[in-house]
Amino acid sequence: MSVTRRQALLFSGLGMVGAGIVTVPISGVSAKSASTLSDSDMPRPYRTPLTIPPPLAFQTTVDANGIKTRHYTVTERLANARILPRLATPILGYNGIFPGPTIRIDQGTRAVVHMRNQLPAKHPTLGHALPTSTHLHGSASLPQFDGYANDLTLPGFYKDYQYPNFQSARSLWYHDHAVHFTAQNVYSGLAAQYLISDPIEKGLLPQGNFDIPLTVSDAMFAANGSLAFDDRDQSGLWGDVILVNGMPWPVMKVQRRVYRFRILNASVSRSYRFTLSNGEPVIMVATDGGLMPAAQTVGSWRHGNAERYEVLIDFRKYAAGTRIELRNLSNDNNRDFDNTGKIMAFDVVADAVDTKDPSWNRIPTTLASSHAMDLTAAAATKTREFRVKRHDDTWSIDDLTWEDVIASGFKKVMAEPALNAVEIWEFRNTAGGWFHPIHLHLVDFQILSRNGKPPFAYEKGPKDVAYVGEEESVRLLVQFGPHRGRYMVHCHNPTHEDHAMMLQFRVGLRADQADPNDPITAAPAVFDPVQG
Ligand code: C2O
Ligand code: CU
Ligand code: CU
Repeated sequence: MSVTRRQALLFSGLGMVGAGIVTVPISGVSAKSASTLSDSDMPRPYRTPLTIPPPLAFQTTVDANGIKTRHYTVTERLANARILPRLATPILGYNGIFPGPTIRIDQGTRAVVHMRNQLPAKHPTLGHALPTSTHLHGSASLPQFDGYANDLTLPGFYKDYQYPNFQSARSLWYHDHAVHFTAQNVYSGLAAQYLISDPIEKGLLPQGNFDIPLTVSDAMFAANGSLAFDDRDQSGLWGDVILVNGMPWPVMKVQRRVYRFRILNASVSRSYRFTLSNGEPVIMVATDGGLMPAAQTVGSWRHGNAERYEVLIDFRKYAAGTRIELRNLSNDNNRDFDNTGKIMAFDVVADAVDTKDPSWNRIPTTLASSHAMDLTAAAATKTREFRVKRHDDTWSIDDLTWEDVIASGFKKVMAEPALNAVEIWEFRNTAGGWFHPIHLHLVDFQILSRNGKPPFAYEKGPKDVAYVGEEESVRLLVQFGPHRGRYMVHCHNPTHEDHAMMLQFRVGLRADQADPNDPITAAPAVFDPVQG
């Protein structure tokens, strides 16, 4: 990165820039376009039907103790997607599709995902090498199955990931986590939802055709239809095309009943403030870690990268033919374009509603308690503070980066909580005008406060990502377990994460103790005898 380009960014007032230079906050910056598509190749809002990623097939085995395990196979491959009206877009996809296939599984059933890396040696347009690491975000997996950034599976190799699924119902997602290239790889398509069900959730919320995963992302396209990548001096990528389940601004037909939407922000850097176009509220029922104690009625909500919010939308009162849009009011430090205020549309249809399904008109108020939400601050035995900021030309947590972790042979940690210790972790973002969605692996936490005030109504549920906004300090209440070992903590704007706003903590182990679950050496990838 030349000094000239840094200065240009600084003088244009758009950027944040390198060493020692104060960042310039930007608010609702609008720009003409990010894509270089011709006018006729540029997609327009509300022309394409919403598609739902297919469920992933599996085989089940039962062990001597009656424990069920589902066996899934996923192949990471280069493929062409139909995103644009006329041009093909090369993607990296789980089974060649974006988003990848959805895994739906019951609590208590284990899973083994045979993850095959059949990607080319190098990314076809961006040129970086393509080893991958797969993280199931929201799962308390053992460290060697957690997608540790340096636990890499090379093209031509596979890794069998074991997922326990003992956790309560929640919307998880699996995505690439390869060191230094997570942003490029997730942006290129390596992302998919993974949904754990349990009897409580099944008894409260819509299921089947009325339980809709919505993976929201943004993209910019080159003139030939391929994905363009510009991370603006490693600050972030903001595309001008909004994708929902991989389609630009789609339209979904809805019956006159209650629907459940599992909204995942899979964008690299864009955060959203979702709202309905008719001013009606949604009913927030679940956060990252599953059901909230009580449903919350919200008119709009700030939704950072990797956060999952489950909402109910009640279409009962609308006449057939009504269109309701899901819109984006945006937040500070995003780059907005002509149509990034639009997300998707719902067209109410006259189809007869099955009123034998009790979820058709049910808006629950009391939902479920959860481990994280039952914690009390009085149980905390330690309070730790971490400052998130730009430091010496890289993004850092307490002036440390993943480069320091690598240089330590993966020993350096930000904290060593005892197994099952309850602690308060405070993330302070006071050094510059950027927001950082901070994610802790392994755990669910409760947001205790934001700048000393209570959290937003919609985040009063179990969380694994906290939106640490500009000038905000967020306090989290966390219990560290149930596994021992090393787990990552990072900003989930992967451009920040890759350069290198990521550290790790070690649970229940001393530095000098052998780690049977070493994230890199305990379960290495294996050469794949089957190729293609
Ligand atoms: Cu969703 Cu460490 O990641
Ligand atoms: Cu995660
Ligand atoms: Cu960040």
